[in-house]
Amino acid sequence: MLVSAKEMLTKAKSGKYAVGQFNINNLEWTKAILQTAQELNSPVILGVSEGAGKYMCGYTTVVGMVKGMIDELGITVPVALHLDHGSYEHAKKCIEAGFSSVMFDGSHYPIEENIEKTKELVQICNDLGLSLEAEVGAIGGEEDGVIGGGEVADPKECKMIADLGVTMLAAGIGNIHGKYPENWAGLSFDTLAAIQDLTGEMPLVLHGGTGIPADMIKKAISLGVSKINVNTECQLAFTAAVRGYIEEGKDLQGKGFDPRKVLAPGVEAIKATVKEKMELFGSVGKA
Ligand code: 13P
Repeated sequence: MLVSAKEMLTKAKSGKYAVGQFNINNLEWTKAILQTAQELNSPVILGVSEGAGKYMCGYTTVVGMVKGMIDELGITVPVALHLDHGSYEHAKKCIEAGFSSVMFDGSHYPIEENIEKTKELVQICNDLGLSLEAEVGAIGGEEDGVIGGGEVADPKECKMIADLGVTMLAAGIGNIHGKYPENWAGLSFDTLAAIQDLTGEMPLVLHGGTGIPADMIKKAISLGVSKINVNTECQLAFTAAVRGYIEEGKDLQGKGFDPRKVLAPGVEAIKATVKEKMELFGSVGKA
């Protein structure tokens, strides 16, 4: 069964750990993440960007695949199916399709407009028992064609959005999607502490989890981050493993060309990455 992310994140905030959001791209990705969560008895959030949703043939296909997998694989840990960086229109589409959680990313709007649109979605999500993530201050880097510049959110604006009754709040603290540049200044812990001071119990979300050093992740969790998004790192691990299989000529041996065999090392690499993150985030055994 799919669940809202509210309960798992409230528990994470009070228990001082974080739940991972791992973005999915296809069946292999979804299966690898769900099986790892089950093996480690960890709650998990499956992230779906608008682009990935389109790639997987639309949100109803994604809901069908994830629900089917939960049943067929006997997954009993809490799983939230979450729209990542959604527009207002796509948040509504995902709600209709049966997602249990959505992110409305209004960070590129003037704050008044972000507040207006977030407020409407709070109402809809509350009525349906779904979790809603909002965002203040664009997060840097490039994801599915959306580009930001490592921005830092205004804590007062964070408070304004948190007070609308959202479930969790993403705020830019110098984090970036994708790989971090050599000259990256690191996370702004002063900003994070100021946001946490003003927003209190609100679970905070750290996007751009790929490549953030372990000590910074731990410090961010100690300052109120309860959800950490990881996407690129699973992609890098998957592709490197599949490349290795082909470079070693394994696809040319026997039935090594079978796509299930070609993709298997990639699946194992995703599992290892997700395991490493769940251990670092502290969500193992917290289902
Ligand atoms: P990375 O791709 O940098 O891990 O970021 C993922 C993310 O924040 C998804 O919203």
